[in-house]
Amino acid sequence: MTDSEAKSRAAELRALIEKANHDYYDLHRPTVGDRDYDMWERELLQLEDAFPFLKSEDSPVRRVAGGLQDGFKKVRHDPPMQSLDKTHAKGELVEFDSFIGKSVSSFSYVIEPKVDGVSLSLKYSDRVLVTAATRGNGTVGDDITANVLTIATIPRRLPPSAPSELEVRGEAYMTREGFLALNARQAAEGLEEFANPRNACAGSLKQLDPNVTSSRPLDVVIYNAGGVGCDGFSNHTEMIKGFAEWGLPTTPWIKKADNINEVLSAIDELENLRHTFAFEIDGAVVKINERGLYDILGSTAHGPRWARAYKYAPERAETVVEDITVQVGRTGILTPVAELKSVFLAGSTISRSTLHNEDQILRQDIRIGDHVWIVKAGDVIPAVDSVIVEKRTGAERVFKMPSKCPVCGGDVRREEGEVALRCVNPGCSAQLCRRLEH
Ligand code: IVH
Repeated sequence: MTDSEAKSRAAELRALIEKANHDYYDLHRPTVGDRDYDMWERELLQLEDAFPFLKSEDSPVRRVAGGLQDGFKKVRHDPPMQSLDKTHAKGELVEFDSFIGKSVSSFSYVIEPKVDGVSLSLKYSDRVLVTAATRGNGTVGDDITANVLTIATIPRRLPPSAPSELEVRGEAYMTREGFLALNARQAAEGLEEFANPRNACAGSLKQLDPNVTSSRPLDVVIYNAGGVGCDGFSNHTEMIKGFAEWGLPTTPWIKKADNINEVLSAIDELENLRHTFAFEIDGAVVKINERGLYDILGSTAHGPRWARAYKYAPERAETVVEDITVQVGRTGILTPVAELKSVFLAGSTISRSTLHNEDQILRQDIRIGDHVWIVKAGDVIPAVDSVIVEKRTGAERVFKMPSKCPVCGGDVRREEGEVALRCVNPGCSAQLCRRLEH
C-alpha cells in the first residue's frame, strides 16, 4: 500500500468511526454492528502503526469516544478514565502474556465478565456519595449524580470501615428483563424502542429529568479503583472483596488464574455462562491481579498495559429479508416487520423480526431481498443487525410505509414527537382485535 492509499483509507475509516460514534453516543441510535465497528477500529490502528505519519491526537482510535452532552455539569477525571485494548483472538492473549512475562517476574491473573454497559465514576466524600460521572472523553465526563442517585443498589453512604475519601469506577447496565419491559412500554406509547440494553442504559443516564431515570431498571457493577482510597489493596481480588464489604455492587463472577492456560479456560467457562447473567456481557476482561505492578506496566494511549478485553463473537446468523409487511397494533401503531427466510439462532428458529419504524429502516438501509445479519437484542428479541451490502444484486426493493392502513384502508398519521405512524380509524378491525386480545 502506498502512502497516499493508506492516507485515503485512513480518512475513510475515521469518517466511518466518527459517524458511528455520533450515532451511538450522541443520538443513542447505533447504526453499525459491534463487529464492523471493531474491524474498522482495528484496521485504522494497524494503518496508523504501519504509516506513523497518519497518527494524530484526534484520531478516533487515540482518544476515548463517549461524547459529552449539553445540560450536564462537567467533572474532571484524575487519573483519566481509560479504555481497554480489545482482541478477538486467543493468540493475542498469549502474546499479551509473554509481553507481561518479559516486563515483570511474578504475577497472576483475574478474569471478569466484560459488562456491556456505560462506564461510570463514583466519588464518596466523608463516606457520602457526592459525585457520579460518565466517562465522557476520558478526561472530562458529565455529572449525572442526580440520575445515579435513583439507582437503588448504589449506597448513598459507606460504612466506617471504608476510607472517608474514595473514588471507584464501574459499569452501569440495564438488565435484560428490564430492557424488554421498557421496550414494550416504549412501543405501546408509540415512542422509539432502544436497540439494546446498553443503549437503553446510556439513554436513561443522560436524562435531564431524574424522574425518568428512576423509572428505568438500572444497576451497577464496580470493578476498578478510581483516583483515591484504593491504595490499601495489594491485589485486585482483595479490592473487589473490600468493595463488596463496603456495600458496593460487584461482579457476580470472578476467577483467579495462575497462568495463560488457566486464563484461556476461564474465558471459555465464562462464555458458556454468558446468558445466565442478568446483564449482557460482550466478553471477558483479563487483568493482572497484583496492583503493585500497574505503575511498572504503565499504559498506552488506548488503555492500561495490565489488562486486556477479550471479546466473544456475537451470536448471529445470516438470512434474507423475503418481504416487509406492516402490522397494526392495539393503539393503531403501524409496525414494519421483516419476513425472514427461517434461520436458527441461539436456541430458536427465527422467521420474523420487527423493524420498529420507517426511520429505523432508512437508517439501516434495509431493502426487500437483502442478505442481513440477525442478532438477538437483549439475548431474546431477534433484530436485524446489519445489511450485507456486498451481497446486493441490484434486485432489492426499497420499502415505503403505506399511506393508508393496510387492514381497514383508513387514514394514517404521524403525530408530533412520535416516530410511529398510526391508523386513526377508531373502528379499524385490526385495532379492535388487538384490543380484545389485550
Ligand atoms: S477494567 C482502564 N473491568 O470495558 C479501564 N472494564 O472496552 C479498566 N468494562 O472502559 C477497566 N467490564 O467501561 C474493566 N470487568 C470490567 C469491565 C470493564 C466492562 C468496560 C469499561 C472499559 C471498557 C473497555
